[in-house]
Amino acid sequence: MKTHTTIQSLQSAIDSWRSQGQRIAFVPTMGGLHDGHLSLVALAKQKADKVIVSVFVNPTQFGENEDFDQYPNTLEQDIALLEQHQIDGLYTPSIEQIYPQGLDSDIKVGEVGDILCGASRPGHFDGVVQVVRRLFEIVKPNMAIFGQKDYQQLLVIAQMAAQYFPEIEVLSQPTIREQDGLAMSTRNQYLSIDEKKIAPRLYQALLQTKQDYLDNTPVEVLTNRVKNTLSKDFKVDYFEVLDANTLKQITDNTSKIAILCAVFLGSTRLIDNIIFNKG
Ligand code: PAJ
Repeated sequence: MKTHTTIQSLQSAIDSWRSQGQRIAFVPTMGGLHDGHLSLVALAKQKADKVIVSVFVNPTQFGENEDFDQYPNTLEQDIALLEQHQIDGLYTPSIEQIYPQGLDSDIKVGEVGDILCGASRPGHFDGVVQVVRRLFEIVKPNMAIFGQKDYQQLLVIAQMAAQYFPEIEVLSQPTIREQDGLAMSTRNQYLSIDEKKIAPRLYQALLQTKQDYLDNTPVEVLTNRVKNTLSKDFKVDYFEVLDANTLKQITDNTSKIAILCAVFLGSTRLIDNIIFNKG
């Protein structure tokens, strides 16, 4: 596995693969790799001839009072993991390579970026789309893989790709969890030992809400109930039961349901979701 720190070096490797007719899968990350990221790598390896992973902590998707400065940097460990998984290239760009004109941008994600995480983190999805567009321009992959863990992000990126990069296929992988149900996340490193014991209650609440929904409990009743329960352990940011395709209220045309939530446990923000057929 070669680590590319410049656009030129990355593109010359990719160009030579492409000239041999090989298909390239791309997995963008911010590092702090765990089994969730590695499941995306596994799918990439299955679907394509060559796999590129990027590690870049994107400043433009962090709000002013967020954790950009503390975001875990575990590059050596990430490299060892990626070596083990035999990917073909790692791209670790500098900020200047990604943003040669500076960090400002006029990219505005539409409606789907304004609700849920977009409402609590203004500008967050604009920054995500800004970096993913730039990375797509540089890598020009045949396909790119994202996790359902960040379900709203997946929808925002799929929408952007359909508009600007119709030639790139956007694929997704289900959420990988710890044995106790906690969704794996780089930010779980912030949790104390005591908080780690509490955190799995979020997934338990999602499962319970799914069951209540399938038992025909009205959405308003079950969201109020679950918010009450969760507020014993967490500060609830949002907890919503929505149409999984539109992230709007459920209608008669809804085929897939998304239960999505974000909470604070101490100062750590956790997000999780479950997606299922309406039945
Ligand atoms: P990051 O949080 O590093 O996540 C990189 C990819 O891994 C995303 O597609 C995310 O959904 C996926 N992922 C994270 N935890 C997962 C889990 N438990 N199971 C399955 N997949 C999981 O998401 C980002 O970085 C950034 O916003 C990025 C897209 C790289 C743009 O900067």
